[in-house]
Amino acid sequence: MSLQHAIDDLPPTDTIDVSDPQLYLDDTWQPLFARLRREDPVHFCPDSPYGPYWSVTRYDDIMAVELNHAVYSSSSEVGGIQIADSPLGRDVVSFIRMDPPLHTVRRRTVSPIVGPSNLANMEATIRERTANVLDGLPRNETFNWVDSVSIELTTMMLATLFDFPWEDRRKLTYWSDVAVANIAAPDAPVRSDEARFAELDRMGQYFSRLWNERVNAPPKFDLISMLAHGETTRNMTPAEFVGTLALLIVGGNDTTRNTMSGGLLALHQNPDQWQKLRVNPALVPSLVAETIRYQTPVIHMRRTASTDALLCGKQIRKGDKVVMWYVSGNRDDGVIEQPDAFIIDRAKPRQHLSYGAGIHRCVGDRLADMQLRILWEEILKRDLQIEVVGPPQRIYSNFLRGFRYLPARIKA
Ligand code: HEM
Repeated sequence: MSLQHAIDDLPPTDTIDVSDPQLYLDDTWQPLFARLRREDPVHFCPDSPYGPYWSVTRYDDIMAVELNHAVYSSSSEVGGIQIADSPLGRDVVSFIRMDPPLHTVRRRTVSPIVGPSNLANMEATIRERTANVLDGLPRNETFNWVDSVSIELTTMMLATLFDFPWEDRRKLTYWSDVAVANIAAPDAPVRSDEARFAELDRMGQYFSRLWNERVNAPPKFDLISMLAHGETTRNMTPAEFVGTLALLIVGGNDTTRNTMSGGLLALHQNPDQWQKLRVNPALVPSLVAETIRYQTPVIHMRRTASTDALLCGKQIRKGDKVVMWYVSGNRDDGVIEQPDAFIIDRAKPRQHLSYGAGIHRCVGDRLADMQLRILWEEILKRDLQIEVVGPPQRIYSNFLRGFRYLPARIKA
């Protein structure tokens, strides 16, 4: 069925609820959002498992919300950044859930850590580890790309960035999964918010040990040592230190991981684009940007109106939940040409919403770009012939768009 037919067959817009995680598990969200963008781009859903909420679905309106942080708050005190409210009374200190002026100070403290000069220092190690993973993959045998490549590489990269004890590195994957788990999902690693916070406390204790070792040792090029010795970071409270690391782990883990899987799937589904890439490896940076747009690893970010406001002619009331659906903005044909197509040599590949915009725009974007660039450079260098040999299994979540399983095979 064409996207147009699928849109026309849908129920009236006033009954549409795009918060159902099943839509993302089944990957059937596209026609619903196409309908909303066309007929009711700022749409009110009066009743959902997360309460009433507004959906912002067009690129320009999402941008307007992103850039107006005075009206649209990220603060955990009013609900935070996900359609599901932050559990009250328990807040990991983390600047993604803060408004200025606190957000400004905290973000400024951390952002040099993932800035260009620090990343340049880590590039060689990340490349070597990527090469080892690729060289160790089986040949002529089906394996799960998600676990053997995407999770393994992002976990190794995080362990490299933190100089985290190597044998324990899968703890990073686990903590990241715990922090973002949908507790209603059948395969959730934790079943309650209490269990979630108990695990995150264990993470805090582990990281505090590493901080204490490094603060008393000479400075090195890992994020913990940099934070422990940095002029602006060495006096962080333990709570802020742990919160900052948690944000870097969660922010950097699933997102980059799912882009690694999404990139392989998109290239497999578009063999002409793969051919283009093989002929012209200089397209890797543009492939990376297009993959991040096409995958849109963060499905939405939520804000809460701190005052009454008008958005696209709709009256938003103080306290209303306003959800920016990046998956939809990235498919808005008013801004992006042929948005449902995967095209690795677009004129403006970086024109997408996957990293957000405004004061909360992803602080780790250069790091993610570098990790993904190195992966594809090393695949091309080896001329690996990688096939996807079966359907993917996706994640049950309305927040992160990703994969559990992607069967792949490399020809010897
Ligand atoms: C914020 C996406 C990789 C750390 C964000 C936001 C998005 C996002 C959508 C919120 C933007 C907004 O509200 O306007 C992504 C994607 C990634 C990625 C798609 C990979 C493809 C990373 C990495 C790190 C990271 C590698 C760090 C190691 C953060 C942090 C924030 C953030 C700390 C909070 C920024 C703030 O509130 O000021 N990211 N991210 N992200 N990301 Fe990323």
